Amino acid sequence: MKVIVLKDYEAVSEFSFQKLSEKLHENIGKKIVLGLPTGSTPLLFYKKISENELDFENVITFNMDEYVGLDKQNENSFYYFMNQNLYSKVNLKEQNINIPNGMAKDLTKECMDYEEKIKQAGGIDMFFGGVGSNGHIAFNEPYSSFNSVTRVQDLTLKTIKDNSRFFKSLEEVPKKALTVGISTIMSAKELIFMASGENKARAVFEAVKGEVSEACPVTVLQKHENAYLVVDEAAASLLK
Ligand code: GLP
Repeated sequence: MKVIVLKDYEAVSEFSFQKLSEKLHENIGKKIVLGLPTGSTPLLFYKKISENELDFENVITFNMDEYVGLDKQNENSFYYFMNQNLYSKVNLKEQNINIPNGMAKDLTKECMDYEEKIKQAGGIDMFFGGVGSNGHIAFNEPYSSFNSVTRVQDLTLKTIKDNSRFFKSLEEVPKKALTVGISTIMSAKELIFMASGENKARAVFEAVKGEVSEACPVTVLQKHENAYLVVDEAAASLLK
């Protein structure tokens, strides 16, 4: 894992944007499979993609997670977020958009099918992600198995509290989500994980200096041969 410390949120977003831009330019006319996150961290990254009109003609996307019980029209669903920030802004084909369906009748089947779809697409070339303040990646909460694949995950109180800022009340935050597993993420050819702000400093410290352990999912990135952890100075503040 390469750790890149940059000045601020803008620089972190620009780094990720440049990585994606290079990848798309090197592969014009070829299929590229992306893993994509939601949350506040990737907002500027998505803004840069739409402002620079990156060509998504041959791109297939797989989002990393979705809340259980929120439909596509719900403003807090990750589908809604993705539609607002990316799908409606680029020339991505509808049939190339993949995001777990948190409304599926059979959630276990939905997860198994999702994992299979990623395989059918040839695996993920570049997986972008954020980091939870408790070190979660996607919705793989602490003590998720490093062998985990796409599945239903109970959210921790810490994550529910963190994410409640987007909801009217804590009670409204779903308690479960569908998430790709740690092994799904680690199977991607390249990983680019971003963290910004002081509330991520502890997770970033663990990610870089901590022992690789299921107790802190983001530490698994240390084992990937082609991973970047891109953080701003505030998120890196405990590294000094
Ligand atoms: C959520 C998402 C993660 C995201 C994390 C951090 O729980 N499932 O994919 O990385 O929160 O979010 P933020 O970027 O808003 O801090």
